[in-house]
Amino acid sequence: MKKHNGHNDTLLSVNNLRTYFHTQKGLVRAVDRASYRVDKGAFVCLIGESGSGKSVSALSIMGLIDTSPGIVDGEITFEGKNLLEDLKNYCTINSNGKAIDIVKDVAGWRRKHRSNIAGVRGRRIGMIFQDPVSSLNPLFTVADHIGESAGLRYGKLSRKQKFEIAVEWLNKVRITSPEDVARAYPFQLSGGMAQRAMIAVALAAEPQLLIADEPTTALDATVQLEILKLLKSLQEEMHLSVLFITHDISIGSNFADSIAVMYAGRVIESGPTASVFQRDNNHPYTDGLLHAALKITTDADDKKFIKGNPPDSVHHPSGCKFHPRCELKTELSDEGERCEREEPYDIKVNKNHHVRCWKYEPGY
Ligand SMILES: Nc1ncnc2c1ncn2[C@@H]1O[C@H](COP(=O)(O)OP(=O)(O)OP(=O)(O)O)[C@@H](O)[C@H]1O
Ligand SMILES: [Mg+2]
Repeated sequence: MKKHNGHNDTLLSVNNLRTYFHTQKGLVRAVDRASYRVDKGAFVCLIGESGSGKSVSALSIMGLIDTSPGIVDGEITFEGKNLLEDLKNYCTINSNGKAIDIVKDVAGWRRKHRSNIAGVRGRRIGMIFQDPVSSLNPLFTVADHIGESAGLRYGKLSRKQKFEIAVEWLNKVRITSPEDVARAYPFQLSGGMAQRAMIAVALAAEPQLLIADEPTTALDATVQLEILKLLKSLQEEMHLSVLFITHDISIGSNFADSIAVMYAGRVIESGPTASVFQRDNNHPYTDGLLHAALKITTDADDKKFIKGNPPDSVHHPSGCKFHPRCELKTELSDEGERCEREEPYDIKVNKNHHVRCWKYEPGY
């Protein structure tokens, strides 16, 4: 396992990010004061159950959440620049977080946001999705897609140049007949091949950060592993940073330098993989995920399996959002009450490792 080896320069930092949606059911707090960080050259896994806010946080970074009916608030600092700068002038969330202000000027918000994200989306930050075929345009060849992405980096390119760059990138993502694939349309590719092509499209702009949102869940296990190894080696070759989104914590153990765990829109734990996997100083939720992933059935410690379901996105529980499912809080009656009442803050348990659980409150 690779250690968190002193990548100290922060490339992306997400601070107190809130992305809320007005819906028929009420206010959905998809991302609720989430904070995490991606250092230069690091591979970070963002982990959580379905609905925990992983995709919405990534789409917020990419500027792909529209203000209406959503509201994005907080800080997303990329290469030292806050991508949400000055948006508060157009819409805000009340400081108590209970009420949400109506967007005052939707057009103004969009204009400002577009200018903040210009030159970043697709160029400095690339993204790949779970289903590559549907995120590529069916009317364009693979070479067209790669050429367009390279154009973001190099300006106007001729058809011939675009084709050459496409072949070069298809080679880099280890596609065996790159010329044929360059001429192909997305629907003509197998799942694994389409995912490689999508990676080539994202990387042809030579971004600093690649966000990969569950890019392997639709693939069979062997192809999944190949794609992961490919991403890992490209990351090392290109000194790229990767934010890899998954619900599978076991991916973290082999590939990630650090891990951030999301629960009910929050990041309840983040830290270097080795420290998080030590299991004696992690969040009860993370530990439950690890317990299930490692299939430790022999010690028969049933308490460690997470019971119940994640909270409804409109009605979050009071206090620690995990408390209704946490076995630990019933064991510690005093602390249990506190868990129901008061939301834990980020408590430092190790170098660069923070856990939102009262269990780690100093002096406890
Ligand atoms: N445009 C939207 N409008 C309203 N609610 C939304 C919107 N997009 C997402 N949500 C809600 O926000 C919450 C977080 O969704 P998100 O897609 O980020 O989850 P996720 O962690 O990526 O889950 P999965 O593992 O299933 O992909 C969910 O409750 C979802 O229903
Ligand atoms: Mg998702």
